[in-house]
Amino acid sequence: MSVMESLVTRRTYRRFAQKPVPQDVVDDIVEAVRLSSCGANRQALRLVVVQSPEMVAKVQPLVKWAAYLPPEQGMPKADETPTLYVAVLQDSSAPGDLSTDTGIALANMTLAAWDKEVGSCIMGAINKPALTELLGIEEPLKLACMVAFGYPIHKAHIVPLTADTGVKYYLDENRDYCVPKRSRGEIARWL
Ligand SMILES: Cc1cc2nc3c(=O)[nH]c(=O)nc-3n(C[C@H](O)[C@H](O)[C@H](O)COP(=O)(O)O)c2cc1C
Repeated sequence: MSVMESLVTRRTYRRFAQKPVPQDVVDDIVEAVRLSSCGANRQALRLVVVQSPEMVAKVQPLVKWAAYLPPEQGMPKADETPTLYVAVLQDSSAPGDLSTDTGIALANMTLAAWDKEVGSCIMGAINKPALTELLGIEEPLKLACMVAFGYPIHKAHIVPLTADTGVKYYLDENRDYCVPKRSRGEIARWL
């Protein structure tokens, strides 16, 4: 898969087969973060890999799915849940703003997984206090976000963003995600 093909097809996935993510993919996810570019090469991000079924089940109720959809459409059912979560932590004792580093790491880890057909959902709407306790995260580390991973059982298509769609994704008749994106002309100008 070319990088551009990956960028088109590496969408957000929210329903998954009940099949574990193999260890080589987990290793690639961690490696993708380890090798990421970061400000002043500080390398101030840390990960918690949640892969035991017991711990994955404890994370499930602490994340919120698909805010644009009613829960019966957007929330994975019991047999559609992700089989792996990775928590992304920031070392708050490191100088500077780590949000750009975090964004680059999120892009790299989700692309690395997608290269092996493992889909993902970056999750910012999470119960940080409860997850911090559950995952044993201690100062100066702070939980930035969770990423859910698994083998998708739905498709996701880019559609043109129109006055009708706005930015909200929706499900089509196959329960596949349709994700409106602005045109190139709307987001860039050429001098
Ligand atoms: C920083 C960030 C936080 C997000 N948080 C959530 C979330 O809490 N729950 C969720 O279902 N999706 C979440 N998403 C996924 C977005 O809804 C998704 O990226 C967006 O709708 C565009 O879809 P696409 O990734 O397929 O382009 C998040 C994405 C990002 C980048």
